[in-house]
Amino acid sequence: MKKKNLDILLLPGDGIGKEISLEAKNLLDWISKNYEFEFELTTDEIGGAAVDKYGVPLTDHTVQMAQSSDAILLGAVGGPKWEEIPFEIRPERGLLKIRKELDLFANFRPAVVFNSLRDASSLKPEVIDSLDILIIRELTGGIYFGEPRGIEILSDNQKRGFNTLTYSTYEIERIARVAFEVAEKRKKKLCSVDKANVLESTALWREIVSNVGKQFPNVELSHMYVDNAAMQLVRNPRQFDVIVTTNMFGDILSDCAAMLTGSLGMLPSASIMASSKNKRLGLYEPVHGSAPDIAGKKIANPIAMLLSVGMMMEYSFNAKEINLLLKKAINNVLKSGHSTMDIAIESDKVLKTHEMGYKIINELEKLKNE
Ligand code: IPM
Ligand code: MG
Repeated sequence: MKKKNLDILLLPGDGIGKEISLEAKNLLDWISKNYEFEFELTTDEIGGAAVDKYGVPLTDHTVQMAQSSDAILLGAVGGPKWEEIPFEIRPERGLLKIRKELDLFANFRPAVVFNSLRDASSLKPEVIDSLDILIIRELTGGIYFGEPRGIEILSDNQKRGFNTLTYSTYEIERIARVAFEVAEKRKKKLCSVDKANVLESTALWREIVSNVGKQFPNVELSHMYVDNAAMQLVRNPRQFDVIVTTNMFGDILSDCAAMLTGSLGMLPSASIMASSKNKRLGLYEPVHGSAPDIAGKKIANPIAMLLSVGMMMEYSFNAKEINLLLKKAINNVLKSGHSTMDIAIESDKVLKTHEMGYKIINELEKLKNE
């Protein structure tokens, strides 16, 4: 079998990011043993770990390594240890920098309910049964990056904090196009979320998304204000298929959508740079954070991270069958009652991070030999 050699940059980051990255590595090993892929894995630091080692949350050298790799896998960043340091070098800035430098403007956050976990959701099972929605979040613009920004001192006891929400035509056009293309391949339904009744920048968002929509007459486009969208997501999430929205609204709605599935520990994401047919560099990371409260205890749920590897195989390396098999293996493991503590199904079958990773790989092995 002729092997495809792929360079993967692994950035475990902070907190549980380190623990779940070990499981991602094991999965990559398993994939290379069973398929035509050979991974050349390079590990470096991002976030607080990079602040400790290099003095900044992401070095230019790491950015260069990312640019020359075939895909990037990231754990999570942040933690109380770095909460008091200047904003410019906070761990989160490392994440924002890598997204911006690599121009990863399209962030895919699927929220899919594994039916074995329907009781782990805080919503009624019948509301979330077979839920499968995709949030496409604009990732390199909006209020996260707008200038001017800062905190200024007005007088002895008064300060003023400010951020700027900006969107230009091209930024909206390109994310809208990605969203329509994806919607076309799914249920041909796209909901664009904004706050066009109050914020000019998102009134422009609505206008441009509608314009792009004219090129996709077979996709049914709807618009929703973000406050209503948040409400509809918990009221009747299955009315949605693909949602496209701004950077900050996407951040908020994706946490909300994650919880519909039972746990934030289940959701992977993909951030990609362009919809071109050529090389499409992607960064893959769980939606959840570094979970400092449980870091080091080895009890974190590795599933979001493993599913991020699955998304990488599908989106970057065209191996959808591996992602499908992985999802099936995870579903089987959960169906058998095994879980991690965040999604505890049966209290005597709660596994630690590594045990869960191991179980899933075992199941993959079984399924592969079937
Ligand atoms: C996410 C996270 C990040 C974000 C933080 C850690 C900067 O919440 O990826 O959703 O706000 O984008
Ligand atoms: Mg978030």
